[in-house]
Amino acid sequence: MDSQTMIDLCKRHSLFSWSATAKVDPLPVARAEGVWLYGPEGQRWIDFNSQLMSVNIGHGHPKVKEAIVRQMDDVMFVYPGMATEIRARLSQRLAELTPGDINTFFYTLGGAEANENAIKAVRLFSGRHKIIVRYRAYHGATHGAITLTGDPRRWPNEPGMGGVVRVMDPAPYDYSFGASDDEIVANNLCYLEEVIRYEGPHTIAAMFIETVTGTNGILVPPAGYLPKLRALLDKYGILLVCDEVMCGWGRTGKVFAFEHGGIVPDVVTMAKGVTSSYLPLGVMGVSDRIADHFRDNVFSGGLTYNAHPMCLAAALAAVNVMIDEDMVGNAARLEPVMRGHMERLQQRHVCVRGHRNIGLFGLIDIGKNAAGERLVPYGGAHPAMAQFGRFLRDNGLFTMLQWSTVMTNPPLCIREDELAYGFDIIDRGLAILDAAFER
Ligand SMILES: Cc1ncc(COP(=O)(O)O)c(C=O)c1O
Repeated sequence: MDSQTMIDLCKRHSLFSWSATAKVDPLPVARAEGVWLYGPEGQRWIDFNSQLMSVNIGHGHPKVKEAIVRQMDDVMFVYPGMATEIRARLSQRLAELTPGDINTFFYTLGGAEANENAIKAVRLFSGRHKIIVRYRAYHGATHGAITLTGDPRRWPNEPGMGGVVRVMDPAPYDYSFGASDDEIVANNLCYLEEVIRYEGPHTIAAMFIETVTGTNGILVPPAGYLPKLRALLDKYGILLVCDEVMCGWGRTGKVFAFEHGGIVPDVVTMAKGVTSSYLPLGVMGVSDRIADHFRDNVFSGGLTYNAHPMCLAAALAAVNVMIDEDMVGNAARLEPVMRGHMERLQQRHVCVRGHRNIGLFGLIDIGKNAAGERLVPYGGAHPAMAQFGRFLRDNGLFTMLQWSTVMTNPPLCIREDELAYGFDIIDRGLAILDAAFER
């Protein structure tokens, strides 16, 4: 099928997520391999966002394909109440790879659903109902998960689920809690403790955080935040849930981002990178004391396709590829290389307001003027950004532009020359955003 027919039929007979269908301009993809996407007429784009920060091992890895086919030969589907060899093997492997006492896993179909089940788990375990979340966060698009979400994707879904209390992040959008990390952490947690007291600690089951915040700005927690947050929550018997749907599975240069902070949460949710998105899977991992609770008490959750053998087979193979081919190490090694490219772009382009990355989780922040305003307002759009997006695509690069930021999240298998190739396209395109800078 040629590109135009593909696009026309998709738009005529299917709805696109988060969009008005008439306005979407989808990339026509016929094939994908490694860090590359290919169109029907031989077009080629470097995937600089691993799709939705999710194809962590790169596209089309043969070992995952083989594992999926092998699983098809054995058993394609049995309902989640049955035991399977693949469920046994994956669960054992995840227990080995997940730090601390997180040894027990519940399998869902994606990240939002992992969070929905985490909401149930913390409420059932603690007997409390409130959940604290932060504004600069995305936790998924289903009823509960979109209520946990702080960003504008929540607005059309309000009022949503009850019992959610939203607090400021250590890095609010337009001002700071302080100059140094110590000051920021102390001020933010002092404010959080006051909120906890107002709400009544005995009513709060858990706090959900994206350990390193993703689409809301690749926000690495300030030094000391994670252990001090953990201690504050422990003081009030409030559970910590780390949403590692986006930042987990190697993205930050460690298997899990919470390892950078030297903590282990009570619950971790994951998806995306756990299968590198080859098949849909979400996972909720719980600590031994929570798992023990559900040995004697009913965990009231489950859908027909939970613990789907095909998806579990994709996960075990994808996780093993990531570890065996040291892609987590590659993300850590390429962190300074990516930062070097970003520093070079900042020197060359007046529009580059800032940049940040941890591992291969990064973004470039686009400014509007010397006063430091962002080009695109919070939750908004700008014609120059749209033109820049068109340039990237026409010149062979796919990535995500989120408000005022350009995402740089390639698959973790990327080589240095491929990384340089992508940054060279961005470099050329930034001339468009320089021209929009108000001098
Ligand atoms: C941090 C985070 N949590 C949850 C989700 C939801 O995952 P899914 O789209 O697989 O439901 C996402 C998706 O982008 C995410 O980034």
